[in-house]
Amino acid sequence: MSSNDFIIIAIDGGAASGKSSTARALSERFHLLHVDTGSFYRAVTAELLCRHVNHADLPAVRAALAALQFGTRVAGRFAGMEINGRVAGDEIRSKEVNEHVSFFAAVPELRQALLAYQRGQVEVARRHGFRGLVMEGRDIGSVILPDADFRFFLHAEPMERARRRVAQGQQDTIHERDRLDSSRKTSPLTCPPGAIVIDSTRLTLEEVVATMAAPIAARLAAP
Ligand code: CDP
Repeated sequence: MSSNDFIIIAIDGGAASGKSSTARALSERFHLLHVDTGSFYRAVTAELLCRHVNHADLPAVRAALAALQFGTRVAGRFAGMEINGRVAGDEIRSKEVNEHVSFFAAVPELRQALLAYQRGQVEVARRHGFRGLVMEGRDIGSVILPDADFRFFLHAEPMERARRRVAQGQQDTIHERDRLDSSRKTSPLTCPPGAIVIDSTRLTLEEVVATMAAPIAARLAAP
């Protein structure tokens, strides 16, 4: 990779492990498009809940998905998902979405419906003149972008993650979501082979970002 190359960074990890804050910081530092795939699963979940679709009713999930058109609206450095022309708002962080999202995310048809869309964000980043993209989620380094230039896996002790979520003012079921996300058959949450693993329990955000930025900066500086 030379300093002119487009950089692709994958960050995976459990709920409240620090993916979004670190991805945001890296996107600023290296001028990357920030792609939060959790926000995609959340937006689709909010939309399906709004349409009264039950995650266990596969024909209804399929029919609802067929009626959804996905687009991307770039705001600053963030890739916002459009569903039928509308970008979802704060409802994607609601208690109801927190409770249902992992059930919808375990439906193979739904994951399949989002696969090409997520990979398509690389082209969105290029089109908008970004230096690359940082994509965060559960299966980015393993399934969505297995050839990413850098793959990170974040984790933190459960008590610390619960504390962070409460500090964000959210009612969330992070341990239950982790259990569902790690045990599902399709694209479970796993640490991809070769990923740089960071335990952020006793680190500040700045320390985590510095650990991630170091190998990226070194690679970009290499002749
Ligand atoms: O912010 P937090 O880490 O709590 O969750 P998120 O990244 O917003 O993701 C919400 C949910 O979407 C997760 O609990 C997973 O069920 C699902 N998800 C997934 O299955 N695959 C991804 N690549 C990203 C999210």
